[in-house]
Amino acid sequence: LDNGLARKPPMGWMSWGYYMCGVNCKNDKQKCLDEKLILSVADRFYEDGYQEAGYEYIIIDDCWSQKERDRLGRLVPDKERFPHGMKYIADYIHKRGLKFGMYTNIADVTCMGYPGSREHFRTDAKMFAEWEVDYLKVDGCFVTEDYLNTAYIKLGMHLNATGRPMVYSCSWPYYIEFIHNKKPDYRSVAKNCNMWRNYHDVVTSWHAIKSIITHYQVIYEELYEYHGPGQWNDPDMLIFGTGSLTDSQRRVHMAVYAMLASPLLLSCDMNKITPYEKELLLNLDLLAIAQDPLGIMGRPYALQPLLTLWVKPHLPRKGDKYHSVSFALVNLDEREHSVSFAPGQYGLNSTDYTAMDVFTKVFTRNVTLKDTLLVKIPPEDVIMYTLFPL
Ligand code: GLA
Ligand code: GLA
Repeated sequence: LDNGLARKPPMGWMSWGYYMCGVNCKNDKQKCLDEKLILSVADRFYEDGYQEAGYEYIIIDDCWSQKERDRLGRLVPDKERFPHGMKYIADYIHKRGLKFGMYTNIADVTCMGYPGSREHFRTDAKMFAEWEVDYLKVDGCFVTEDYLNTAYIKLGMHLNATGRPMVYSCSWPYYIEFIHNKKPDYRSVAKNCNMWRNYHDVVTSWHAIKSIITHYQVIYEELYEYHGPGQWNDPDMLIFGTGSLTDSQRRVHMAVYAMLASPLLLSCDMNKITPYEKELLLNLDLLAIAQDPLGIMGRPYALQPLLTLWVKPHLPRKGDKYHSVSFALVNLDEREHSVSFAPGQYGLNSTDYTAMDVFTKVFTRNVTLKDTLLVKIPPEDVIMYTLFPL
């Protein structure tokens, strides 16, 4: 969607992955989706270096409203969990220079049965704009294919008519492909949405991350041309802070999402992020790959079963015609792999490079177009270099 927003893949935090429908605050304090939680995420972003690194959007997913609209047909935040309303939260977030996101569904009800926006596009768009929302995730449960294909466009027009800049995140292609078993019209999706889900919900396991990575490898050809500034494929949230990965699996998770130029949305108790996860999340070289202004989706080359080389070219520095290129050798196997490859075969436009290991930040060696590199990749791990032209 060419609305000037999401020129880089959005980064931030979203409630669903970890807190899910956290309405039962009395009995489950750990997973309580309430005002206190959202404000505390804003504090963590502000105080712990996330904001400086680019983490910006704080998004409340499903289960934030009362079970019914009010007499005027407006959505009302749950009074117990959001006692000061949503504008209060928006103000708190904005004061810290961060941005605020919310959620609705395109149907009568949300996926969890709260009021949805069908028949209320105008009122709800106005309401979100009044609350000073900067990002809206719109889910697509419970409706037909035809309805999905028209309603997302229509809701986008209502959002636009408010005049408030709101990143428009659509789950439209996911429902077309996996619920209605049709091919999404990505031209239309990319024209009308800033980002879109097109694969299953992530859960907190290595298996889920592997299956997401494998899926994007398989459908890369179908997607890459629709991926770029203002229009992003969204493989769903990061699962850091949930204790579900080893450190090497964490490297793979972050490396591939950076190579994909995917949105980077955390979903966890921010206090449970491990020091190593934090190091990865705040690794500026990794984030520079993820947030490169060209926004190219890295291309996967299957070198061996379960071993993929991802390649992503970057915007040349000002006044330079040679560009840097990142390479990630991703091993999804439970055993070590060795591979030799010649970087010169993958779209380099200069002759001499210096290679930096993105995780250790060590400049390991120089590389010419003729060189072949022999690399060992430990089980469920990744070796990642950026090659800078000399
Ligand atoms: C769907 C979405 C999730 C989340 C839930 C909320 O499953 O894909 O990301 O928003 O609905 O009910
Ligand atoms: C337009 C508007 C923005 C925003 C988006 C949402 O570009 O200018 O304010 O509403 O649409 O689609």
